[in-house]
Amino acid sequence: MCKQLKVGPRDSLQPVLSAILQIPLIAVFEISKQQKNMANAQQAKLSTAFYYLNDNFYCENSPVHQIENELEKTSGCDDDDDDRSATPLYIYSQAQLHRNIQSYKDAIQSAGMSGRMHIFYAVKANPNLHLMELVRKQNCGAVTVSGYELKAALNTGFVPEMILLNGNGKQMWEIRLALKNGCMLNVDSYFDAENIISVARQLQKTARVLIRVNPGLEQSSTPVHSYLSTALKNSKFGIPLHQFDQVLELLRAEHFIQVVGLHCHVGSTIRDAFIYSDVTRILLDIRQKLITQGYAHLKYLDIGGGLGIDYYHGTNQEQSPLSSTGELIQAIASLLPPDVEVIIEPGRSLVANTGILVTKVLGSKKSPDGGKNFVVVDAAMNDLIRPSFYQAYHHVLPVRKSISSEGTYDIVGPICESGDFLAVDRRLAQEPVKGDLMAIMDIGAYGMAMASNYNMRARAAEVLVDGNSWKIIRRRENFESLVRTMTAD
Ligand SMILES: Cc1ncc(COP(=O)(O)O)c(C=O)c1O
Repeated sequence: MCKQLKVGPRDSLQPVLSAILQIPLIAVFEISKQQKNMANAQQAKLSTAFYYLNDNFYCENSPVHQIENELEKTSGCDDDDDDRSATPLYIYSQAQLHRNIQSYKDAIQSAGMSGRMHIFYAVKANPNLHLMELVRKQNCGAVTVSGYELKAALNTGFVPEMILLNGNGKQMWEIRLALKNGCMLNVDSYFDAENIISVARQLQKTARVLIRVNPGLEQSSTPVHSYLSTALKNSKFGIPLHQFDQVLELLRAEHFIQVVGLHCHVGSTIRDAFIYSDVTRILLDIRQKLITQGYAHLKYLDIGGGLGIDYYHGTNQEQSPLSSTGELIQAIASLLPPDVEVIIEPGRSLVANTGILVTKVLGSKKSPDGGKNFVVVDAAMNDLIRPSFYQAYHHVLPVRKSISSEGTYDIVGPICESGDFLAVDRRLAQEPVKGDLMAIMDIGAYGMAMASNYNMRARAAEVLVDGNSWKIIRRRENFESLVRTMTAD
């Protein structure tokens, strides 16, 4: 599909955005030749972009502590009453992002599905424009869940026909934006269908839609955190099977609607590819029924995203084995009739392991009974909410290894909430002491994307490492940026 599609009209914000993307936020930093050679040799042995060399933690060829040091020097803040530190800080690896996309592409090719299976990046996982641009350059499409995500996808140059606007509560302006630009939309409910029809009529434009199916699964068949399940009987997403015919009737009668496919996303952090075979079978069944009712344009099956990653880095033997991208693609490919094309919507499995959150230890304290060793760091739930929100596990590593004793720690942030933690009862090989830097792993997905300004904390900067160099791809917020929208012009 990538080759067949013509690039459609761009949103008028394109020049503005291009200008933004080209802003030399700060100079690109380079590391020395000797460091580079050593790092190259070490990295060649490792499958991920993050590794230790001489007890220092690296992202690609750049020592993490060096990035933090440089950033601190160039923070530009010389006010003693303001935050001058570089941490918390998100650091991403460009090479890892490319590797993750390539692993999907290789799997698609091995399954003989090139041109019939399309990777639509789930922008919600990480909407940084620079990362989106990298993904787009790999000929991926985009799945978006808000008007602004859609604008970001259009403005970073995603082919409009390869953008899908999803969402259970789309507003009229969002539907209009999608339709004007020739993007596809998911129909999520009866009222959503009515709204899409109404906008399509106003614009006199055919809406190419996929129908999002809610197959009403049991929680036990999608063994993930309940907040991450999206196709259960009581989920708010998609059209339950018993309402399907009613919605179909509405769509069928409408001149400006073309149903081009079916969609189902069952949830996130899925470990076993068999779930995707089940979803494919369910959608193929429904497709078959629709074909017998005369639907001729059902080109796509969109089986959603949701493949998990190894957040535990091999340290949790109790977890069921994690299917690879190859197993996922194979699970679908083996079931497909030749006239069907598949859209997959990975977010996490493309970007999660591309990023770390670097944080500095502010100090430590013990609970009165000695049951808890709290390590207080400068990152918090506003920078990474997954542990507080879903009790999610993120691996924690020291940025510099040192000889010290093992211990069990709660790594907590400075936010005024008892639920503000990044890790609980975590066994660490070395005691974190004041001033130490720590890396919270796998925050590339749903890290910065879910960050907030709670407690009036400025959201952290994002840095992108590319081999020997790195650049800031999002500046850290400051007091002025926090209050800008509260003050009169
Ligand atoms: C419809 C849809 N597609 C794709 C995704 C991406 O999921 P993940 O990042 O786990 O791959 C999500 C995430 O919730 C989603 O809701």
